[in-house]
Amino acid sequence: MLSETILGFGFKKNCMREIAAYGTKRKAEIGADKVFDFSLGNPSVPAPPCVEETIRELLSLDSTSLHGYTPAPGLPSLRRTIAKNLQERFGLPIRDDLVYVTCGAAAGLAICMHALLLPGEEVIAFAPFFTEYRMFTEGMGGTLVSVPPTESLQPDLDALAASLSEKTKVVIVNTPNNPSGVILSDESLKKLSGILHAAELRYGHPIYLVSDEPYRELVYDGQQVPCVLNYYDNAIMDYSYSKSLSMPGERIGYLAVSPRMEDASTIFAAICGAGRVCGFVNAPSLMQRVIEKCIDKTSDINMYKINRDLLYNGLKELGFDCVYPDGAFYLFMKTPEPDAEAFCRRAMKENLLVVPGDSFGTPGYVRLAYCVSPEVIERSLPTFKKLAEEYGLKPTSSEG
Ligand SMILES: Cc1ncc(COP(=O)(O)O)c(C=O)c1O
Repeated sequence: MLSETILGFGFKKNCMREIAAYGTKRKAEIGADKVFDFSLGNPSVPAPPCVEETIRELLSLDSTSLHGYTPAPGLPSLRRTIAKNLQERFGLPIRDDLVYVTCGAAAGLAICMHALLLPGEEVIAFAPFFTEYRMFTEGMGGTLVSVPPTESLQPDLDALAASLSEKTKVVIVNTPNNPSGVILSDESLKKLSGILHAAELRYGHPIYLVSDEPYRELVYDGQQVPCVLNYYDNAIMDYSYSKSLSMPGERIGYLAVSPRMEDASTIFAAICGAGRVCGFVNAPSLMQRVIEKCIDKTSDINMYKINRDLLYNGLKELGFDCVYPDGAFYLFMKTPEPDAEAFCRRAMKENLLVVPGDSFGTPGYVRLAYCVSPEVIERSLPTFKKLAEEYGLKPTSSEG
């Protein structure tokens, strides 16, 4: 006997990956310049020079210790560096003994769910949300409760209040958001915190806020991303260097438990236990040392801003209805027909690859990952124009 849930996830098609695989096939058939692939969130700008320089330096060290196991929760020196960095940047009293180095944000989320959830408990996520939240929750026997967004695709906090129940154990926020690029404002976070506090008192148990923030550094026009741990005490930060340092294949990030959390040390012990259960221990040794050296660096984020402006303005001018992305490298666009999957199929015929919002719990939209070269965006606009005309959209002037 196998678990039907787990088997179901194994058989379930990964829509994004399928679209990307189709893109690879089409590029081989008709030429890469004729395919406009906005399917995957793979960074398109190189890692900053510090990454390669540090790797070269490290390779001259003794290879047995360099490539050996580190302590399960990460190198003590890296945990101290991360804690200090968070203290300096956000004024958080983060303690190094509450930092757990992970194999990326996905591992961090899996660990959180293993540490916090009991079968039958609920996890609330604001739609649109990262597809994998469902796996991490249901894989633990939990239920994912999706809170639909407001008209302007912001998290609907009144709907959150109505969705909380005795069974709610975890709420996940993702700011800046994949797939909408929306940043949770100071006002929203204050309101969210008040709602969760009231529910904790009402139900007599903690409700943990997991802040999934792999796009924290990817923001434009001087926008700030308010630090979730400064608003709510029972919170855990889930961070990753996949996007900020353009190294998703290297699998490195961390969890930081708020020192203001009730029983923070017990929750951290549960995280360590969950890390062992999942096998997410001793994160890649070489990368831990790279992060220690490159903690303050990011890739050239400005490249994504250029793309954001090009794509957003181009689509708005053609008459498409888009959510203005303040961060991340995704644009969420309302489809001109209610069935986003049908729109995707139609776009696919024109070799334009976008992902239906259904994958993110929000039908009627598509996600465009604009981590591509600006030329791809420029070359794709005539195809978008063709689609806009076929759907009878009215061109407008752009505003940002
Ligand atoms: C919102 C969100 N959370 C988590 C992850 C997982 O990131 P990582 O590559 O660090 O595992 C991603 C990856 O795209 C993401 O978009």
